[in-house]
Amino acid sequence: MPSAAERYHEDTKYTPENVRRPGRGLDFDKQPVPFKDYATGTAYDLTRFLPEGEELKSDAELEAWRAQLPSADQDLAALSHLLYFTNGITAVIPYGGQPLLLRAAPSAGGLYPTELYVAVRDHAVLPDGLYNYQVRDHSLVCFWAHDPWPRLREATFHHPALEQSGLLVIATGVYFRSAWRYEDRAYRRILLDTGHVLGNLGLYAPVLGWQTQAIGGFADGAVEDLLFLDPEEEGVVAIAAVLPAGKPLTGPSALPGPVSTGVSVPEGRRLLALHAAGKLTEATPPPEAASGEEKYTFAFGETLADVPVPFDAQLGPTIIRRRSTRAYSGDGLTREELAALLGFTYGQSGGLFAPELLETFLAVHDVTGLDAGCYHYRPEKRELRQIRFTALRDEVQYLALGQDLAGRAGAVVFHTADLPRAVARYGDRVYRYLHLDAGHLGQRLNVAAIRLGLGVSGIGGFFDDQVNDMLGIPEREAVLYLTTLGRPESR
Ligand SMILES: Cc1cc2nc3c(=O)[nH]c(=O)nc-3n(C[C@H](O)[C@H](O)[C@H](O)COP(=O)(O)O)c2cc1C
Repeated sequence: MPSAAERYHEDTKYTPENVRRPGRGLDFDKQPVPFKDYATGTAYDLTRFLPEGEELKSDAELEAWRAQLPSADQDLAALSHLLYFTNGITAVIPYGGQPLLLRAAPSAGGLYPTELYVAVRDHAVLPDGLYNYQVRDHSLVCFWAHDPWPRLREATFHHPALEQSGLLVIATGVYFRSAWRYEDRAYRRILLDTGHVLGNLGLYAPVLGWQTQAIGGFADGAVEDLLFLDPEEEGVVAIAAVLPAGKPLTGPSALPGPVSTGVSVPEGRRLLALHAAGKLTEATPPPEAASGEEKYTFAFGETLADVPVPFDAQLGPTIIRRRSTRAYSGDGLTREELAALLGFTYGQSGGLFAPELLETFLAVHDVTGLDAGCYHYRPEKRELRQIRFTALRDEVQYLALGQDLAGRAGAVVFHTADLPRAVARYGDRVYRYLHLDAGHLGQRLNVAAIRLGLGVSGIGGFFDDQVNDMLGIPEREAVLYLTTLGRPESR
């Protein structure tokens, strides 16, 4: 019998038959609003710390601006900037007569299921308590004004990061926002989206002298209670502790959970069923470090050069500029660009949950100095091994549900994981870790691509089994996410 995670994955695969199924239309009368309102609570405005008018020139400019504030305000300004560059509104575009508010992190279908909460202790301005980050007006609403640490310590099974941190970011998914369009498969997108948000958090924290520690193991019910969530509507998917940079990180980034038998769940309930199957009520020690054995030993390896992405204090402006590319020119990438993109993306593992479980494959359509075909990438050696020697534009476009982006990119990155093996290590909860990490790496690819003047877009919809066939990998290797990279079409 498969586990709940394997069952869910199988049940939510796209196939050429089921994507065209009648009844997959959208009910615009029920279109969800991607914001949460609080009837009560104390609001703390964070917009006054955002630069007005002129375009932001550099991270250094913002740092200098923070430094001249009264010292009590500096902490709040830093938090304002952290949240803004993690998930704030960075563009407004017209959409069906209404403004669509685009954010620092991309989101499948622009549905923005991720909510961020902040738990604060011993802050210079904010009272101890729990806050919701109100994206729409860039404020924090305090809905519980007590020291949350005693309950959070218990809920995180006394994670040591809590003793070094006065700031936790708790990410949830509001299911219907994404399920409205993507039905049961929405759980995958919710986790990928949230991974992108956490990617920004992990990237921007060092600009403020901080670092993040992923806390994947927590008692879900206790955190839901603390945040006053309705578990039928919203689930906690990740916690990140924000700590001073330089302190050695201790404690596990992921804990294992139970494995349930993947019984048949009716359509429409599968998302909730898998989230429930992944919940923890107690801590089990993390598994031994995975053996370094190579799963894929393809011949024809070549090593990519160590090429840095020159951020030059331009991370904030890059995040503001980041948009998902809507069309590629069809022109290729250079080998140096690909090396820089991959080098940056895998250059550090901080903030990830269980990255050792992910595999990276590439479909190279047009990269100077590389044959077109499929490759397996080993980040620790920066090594590409060719596994298919053939032009794949049409095949990749087809399996990405016919999207031009996948055919006209220069290269497409595929993140996959051996799902039965991952479940054996972390239980059904691993489904969260895998997709959160794939989204996180996707965000690093996004930010690096934008900085290099390239185009980039995630793709969450694909014919799952056809990807395995194209890559020639066994079915147990679950395909998690695609990131397309290329040259944007100039308009
Ligand atoms: C998990 C995920 C899946 C996505 N899938 C697709 C896709 O299949 N096709 C596409 O054109 N864009 C896709 N996108 C990009 C979104 O459409 C885009 O992020 C959203 O419209 C907001 O625009 P922005 O990224 O420019 O801010 C995806 C983004 C994410 C994070």
